[in-house]
Amino acid sequence: MHRTIEPAILYAGTPVVLITTLNADGSANIAPMSSAWWLGWSCMLGLDATSKTTENLRRTRECVLNLASVEQVEAVDRLALLTGSEQLPLHKKLLGYRTERDKFAAAGLTADTSTIVAAPRIRECPIQMEARVASIAPFAADDAKMAIPMRAIEVRIETVHVREDLCMADNPDRIDPDRWKPLIMSFRKFYGVGEGVHPSRLARGPEEAYAPWKMTGLKGMAGRAALRIANAKHRRPEPASLRPPSEADAEESWRS
Ligand SMILES: Cc1cc2nc3c(=O)[nH]c(=O)nc-3n(C[C@H](O)[C@H](O)[C@H](O)COP(=O)(O)O)c2cc1C
Repeated sequence: MHRTIEPAILYAGTPVVLITTLNADGSANIAPMSSAWWLGWSCMLGLDATSKTTENLRRTRECVLNLASVEQVEAVDRLALLTGSEQLPLHKKLLGYRTERDKFAAAGLTADTSTIVAAPRIRECPIQMEARVASIAPFAADDAKMAIPMRAIEVRIETVHVREDLCMADNPDRIDPDRWKPLIMSFRKFYGVGEGVHPSRLARGPEEAYAPWKMTGLKGMAGRAALRIANAKHRRPEPASLRPPSEADAEESWRS
């Protein structure tokens, strides 16, 4: 029997990402978040529009997505209820947040220089993705159940750093899902993942089939051209009525 209910949140379990960005004075900020998903080398981040991270992403257009494993759970928990914003927005005041300028020290984490972006990587995180902002759009702007202004921030991954022991022995370009133990946030609590539970049909073919840009020579060129032609009609933009308004439009509608 199912019951129809009205939960306050619907966070059914997603990986915890520590986003590092640079503040205007050159210091670094860290924000734990878990509304993130990837398609190809692009990632969509769901972020509070009032957060220091959103402010930094607007200005610098770059960040590092540091994926936390279960080993970083204490550091992640120490970052909860902190913001790099000097002025606390009302909802964060009510939730008991406080301003913290040095989140690396507060969490006991170590900053490492990145190779492409100016924001640092977090040494302790086994997977680090340097990324650049592709777009910032309003999210759920007309949703009466959304209490705070949110942004859907699309970032393009530029380069990926992975702890060596997580790479497959026979293919260092692949992350071994049997060894990678992401930290999962489910309904505000922390979990790890267990052992694999079933063989996966999706995982039967080569992972490289998802990366036509890696195919070299004539075969690669022909494969990419065939995909472009086959998918041409799906690449057309959605009709204007289905497109989200720009961030500027959304800010305008909140002010009015
Ligand atoms: C485990 C965890 C997951 C979180 N997930 C999100 C999220 O997906 N989106 C978001 O806007 N805030 C999320 N938060 C809250 C942010 O960390 C919070 O807004 C924080 O103040 C951001 O830091 P900043 O203001 O310095 O950028 C999460 C917090 C924790 C502890």
